[in-house]
Amino acid sequence: MKLSARALRLGLMAAVLASVLPFLANPSSAQNDLTGFWVFRVPIGDGNFRESFFDLKQEGEQITGKRIEDSRETPISDGNFRDGKLHMVVTRTFGSPPQTRQTVYQGTLEGDKFVLTAQTSGRQPVKGTLEHSRPEAALPPPRLPLPQLHDVPDNGLARTPPMGWNSWNKFAGKVDDATVRAIADAMVASGMQKAGYVYVNIDDTWEGPQRDASGNVAGNTKFPNMKALAAYVHSKGLKIGIYSSPGPKTCAGYEGSYGHEEQDARTYAAWGFDYLKYDWCSASRIYKDEEMPAVYQKMGDALLKTGRPIVFSLCQYGSEDVWKWGAKVGGNLWRTTGDISDNWRSMSGIGFSQFDIAPYIKPGHWNDPDMLETGNGGMTADEYRTHMSLWSMLAAPLLAGNDLRTMSEETKELLTNGEVIAIDQDPDGKPAQRLSDPNAAATVVVRSLHDGSLAVGLFNRAAQPQSVTIQWSSVNLAGKKLRGRDLWKHSEVPLSGDAYTADVPAHGVVLLKVIPQ
Ligand code: GLA
Repeated sequence: MKLSARALRLGLMAAVLASVLPFLANPSSAQNDLTGFWVFRVPIGDGNFRESFFDLKQEGEQITGKRIEDSRETPISDGNFRDGKLHMVVTRTFGSPPQTRQTVYQGTLEGDKFVLTAQTSGRQPVKGTLEHSRPEAALPPPRLPLPQLHDVPDNGLARTPPMGWNSWNKFAGKVDDATVRAIADAMVASGMQKAGYVYVNIDDTWEGPQRDASGNVAGNTKFPNMKALAAYVHSKGLKIGIYSSPGPKTCAGYEGSYGHEEQDARTYAAWGFDYLKYDWCSASRIYKDEEMPAVYQKMGDALLKTGRPIVFSLCQYGSEDVWKWGAKVGGNLWRTTGDISDNWRSMSGIGFSQFDIAPYIKPGHWNDPDMLETGNGGMTADEYRTHMSLWSMLAAPLLAGNDLRTMSEETKELLTNGEVIAIDQDPDGKPAQRLSDPNAAATVVVRSLHDGSLAVGLFNRAAQPQSVTIQWSSVNLAGKKLRGRDLWKHSEVPLSGDAYTADVPAHGVVLLKVIPQ
């Protein structure tokens, strides 16, 4: 059969239309197979992104595969791709006792990327893009050699537990230059400085997205001039702290110090910083936990080498019995637990679990059960009194974590009680001792002070008021004439007989100083 030119043209047009029409009807068909490697990029401001990766497989409409985050792989438990819309559910189990955290990803294809919203249980949804990537992109940078272990000389700092403020608990990613300056002002105006608070510490999210051509780190747009900021804080008679990670990224996804340890230490010193919190975070992608001492020692040495006195704060959540080696790698303090939250369960769970490791403290080297939540609103005044009393008995760093600009009189009194702070700052740095059974709600804690007196904490962990008793024989004070002082009421307490019993409110404390006459 012979076709006319017209018929041929019509046939060709039909064939072209047939191939294009389904795409017009369903734009996703150009991308119909999502099988492959993807990166989910969430902008976190200042040109920084938080990245997680997806290794996907599509069969029909079903999507299976896994999410890869900091080398941690979690399977997709439910996923489909239908009418250009992607839906995936990832459920991660972690911690002990095990907790689960579910994230639902949903979005549509726009061009060759998906615009996705990720909703993690109990958190604000975040928006990002899911783009084609390569498996190599999910790999950590090549491993750098670690130094041989040796004892880093003591820097002579933090003879008593550091006192100050840190931005994380209240401001998290919303901290900026103006806020830090205003907090420094408030630290002076509120009387905090007089009470002994010195350090104004910037936590995560100050870091710029890129290093310069020589590899120097810089602040991001929230922190345009770190040197000027440090000078401002110093002009108030205060000191200033900074934050980084031994990994390539900080916990919030900003630039870490990996491969730039000495250079960053020099930069902090040149800017005039006095304190560094060094947070493990993505170092877990490169190093094993057992390698933490060498990783921290590298920065301990680097800080010393700058010649500037810089307090070194280790943050690796208490793994590898850090209290046994933190001082050797140059640490002045080391976190002993995961992150605190502003509630009784978190604070009391952390605080009352610190007694076994209390003997590891000594002047210059402190256990750090995390920053204060006092004044952030999630606990009662009695609970915050327990927080302050317990942290002081433990000789914990007192780093306020609230907004000093707007705090109430009650919060100010909680934070600036000189008699309680004096317990925390006792020059001997002796450990607290729990006298009661570990599980008893009536918890008795004592600590010897350098003037020969004894701090006594009568804590009530129960949700109802109860009386709590200390027997003087348990602290070798039986038959001694004793003077007592209530450090929260600022009043004398008559002490006589074999024991003292206090009525303690729910989740509250009676904190005494007992002075043998
Ligand atoms: C970790 C630390 C916190 C805080 C955040 C910042 O969770 O433990 O104290 O520094 O990182 O991202």
